Amino acid sequence: MKHHSIVWHKNVKKRHSIVWHKNVKKRHSIVCVHVFSLWAHSVNCLDRHVHTCPERVALIWERDEPGSEVKVTYRELLEMTCRLGNLLRHRGVKRGDCVTIYMSPCPLAVASMLACARIGAAHNVVFAGFSAEALAERIRDARSSTVITVNQGVRGGKVTELKRTVDTAVQSCPTVQQVFVAMRTENPVVMTAKDVAMEEEMLKEDVVCEPAAMDSEDVLFLLYTSGSTGKPKGLVHTQAGYLLYAALTHRYVFSYHDGDVFGCVADIGWITGHSYSVYGPLANGGTTVLFESTPIYPDPGRYWEMVQRLKINQFYGAPTAIRLLLKYGDQWVHKYDRSTLKTLGSVGEPINTEAWEWYHSVVGDGRCPVVDTWWQTETGGICIAPRPSDPDAEIVPGMAMRPFFGIKPVLMDTEGKVVTSNNTSGALCIAQPWPGMARTIHNNHQRFTETYCQPHPGYFFTGDGAYRSKEGYYQITGRLDDVINVSGHRIGTAEIEDVVNQCSAVAESAVIGYSHNIKGQGVYAFVVLKKSVEVEEADVSRQLTVMVSKNIAKYACPDCIQFVQRLPKTRSGKIMRRVLRKVVECELNGLGDLSTLDDPTTVQEIIQGHRDLLSKQQQQ
Ligand SMILES: *[C@@H]1O[C@H](CO)[C@@H](O)[C@H](O)[C@H]1NC(C)=O
Ligand SMILES: *[C@@H]1O[C@H](CO)[C@@H](O)[C@H](O)[C@H]1NC(C)=O
Ligand SMILES: *[C@@H]1O[C@H](CO)[C@@H](O)[C@H](O)[C@H]1NC(C)=O
Repeated sequence: MKHHSIVWHKNVKKRHSIVWHKNVKKRHSIVCVHVFSLWAHSVNCLDRHVHTCPERVALIWERDEPGSEVKVTYRELLEMTCRLGNLLRHRGVKRGDCVTIYMSPCPLAVASMLACARIGAAHNVVFAGFSAEALAERIRDARSSTVITVNQGVRGGKVTELKRTVDTAVQSCPTVQQVFVAMRTENPVVMTAKDVAMEEEMLKEDVVCEPAAMDSEDVLFLLYTSGSTGKPKGLVHTQAGYLLYAALTHRYVFSYHDGDVFGCVADIGWITGHSYSVYGPLANGGTTVLFESTPIYPDPGRYWEMVQRLKINQFYGAPTAIRLLLKYGDQWVHKYDRSTLKTLGSVGEPINTEAWEWYHSVVGDGRCPVVDTWWQTETGGICIAPRPSDPDAEIVPGMAMRPFFGIKPVLMDTEGKVVTSNNTSGALCIAQPWPGMARTIHNNHQRFTETYCQPHPGYFFTGDGAYRSKEGYYQITGRLDDVINVSGHRIGTAEIEDVVNQCSAVAESAVIGYSHNIKGQGVYAFVVLKKSVEVEEADVSRQLTVMVSKNIAKYACPDCIQFVQRLPKTRSGKIMRRVLRKVVECELNGLGDLSTLDDPTTVQEIIQGHRDLLSKQQQQ
């Protein structure tokens, strides 16, 4: 299968013009924080570098088929962005509007984000795996009149009908007046009256686009994240602080240097893609990889084959993918040359010990520091992480270690008092504002203050629990809703999972609490076994009980172990514990919003398995 959609390169080159240099020189400003950020985004991410190194590669679009990557220089990306900015302007998109982007990772998606920034419109990128319903909900909440999409997506050798999903979504979005359609594949697409053939129209536009002057606190983008209850929240990030924070954390946490190739494999639909595939690397004049595929396409060596081919220096991925690859064995890693790698990053959840060790010793040959980064959509960028560039850097497996510049973490006890001692746990809060923090929830400031500011007045409440070691290092213990109280003992479910995952037969697990009439709460473990091993479930259960009681305590041993084929995960790979809790509490009507689930059939399997387990227990 061969898909080409690089039409814009050929034509863009011919019309290359450098008029903007003159203006930029005079007004050249490296991210200024406080009062104004003149033309902040697209200028800081593009024009500045076009001025010094126009032919440097900005984007490497790692397309689904290995070996078919496309490179885009800073000059080309600026031209694409300017044409698109002009097109948006001519089609009525104004400063302050919000444009929804529903695209798989590709240069035009990045150009769309930057074009919005250039003309002062906010962007709202929706992960291109969401259903029509989830997309519609986000378009309506953002009140977008313009949507940008591609005809089809290509991922893992499969084609998805993104444009068709947009067509369905738009039917229930009265605000939408136009849909820009780019061509990712050559397959024809049925155009409606609202549709605009994006590349064709872009070619009619000028390659110079005057950037809007923005206030540092103007909105840069909305990004929706699902809360544990209620509708998804449209978190609002602003111009200057966000870019400053993305750029600084990208440079210092990963030790990014000029000329390095940065490989963040997150989708642009998540905050990780925003900060570390797009804004951070581009603000630093870096070369950044846009990954369109999956970790196991065409085989489980994909990441490392890509590292070898693109000579990636920093690799940034999720523990869930690392655990998946670990199951397939070391040979897929050893096959490829990974000598260019300097830093390995982990994001999305605390990385468990077994995965950390494998990442460090097998993938990094014990040579590359692993930076286990803690942050959230709300924080805009990394807040707690090791900084290997520090001369006295020490890294402890499974620990996020130290706060980034300007971040003041504090721990709160159950009474809401600040814990000052070391070697203690508590609710993780941040004591002072920092540049990258979200400013509000779109259309619902009250929900923002209720969720983040009111639980601990005067502090930003993260919703996560953390442990501070006697050396003052931080370890994230998981969402606070994931701390349970078994017979008066408080224990983080992540701690139990960490032990369960160390069992050689276990691929992954999720541990949750449920109401237990004697202990208050009991421990319920969902366990996925490795495909390659032949074991009896009863033997594994016994083994897990021994391991947990030895490594933690007897009270932490699972009361129930349910073996499952798969765990319910969000499309970004997070286990949806809320759903598991509801299943275990038999509250099947309260499963809530399942739109972020990767594969909803998983839930049915788990409900059935839970029923079987209950009836088996009743028979005993
Ligand atoms: C840390 O605290 C635990 C329990 O609170 C205690 O058992 C342990 O000895 C302490 N460790 C150090 C190094 O102080
Ligand atoms: C906790 O550890 C840090 C780092 O070693 C140290 O600076 C701080 O004084 C310690 N706090 C207490 C209360 O011992
Ligand atoms: C834990 O639960 C017990 C009842 O089982 C309760 O008395 C105790 O206050 C709880 N502890 C905490 C820290 O929540």
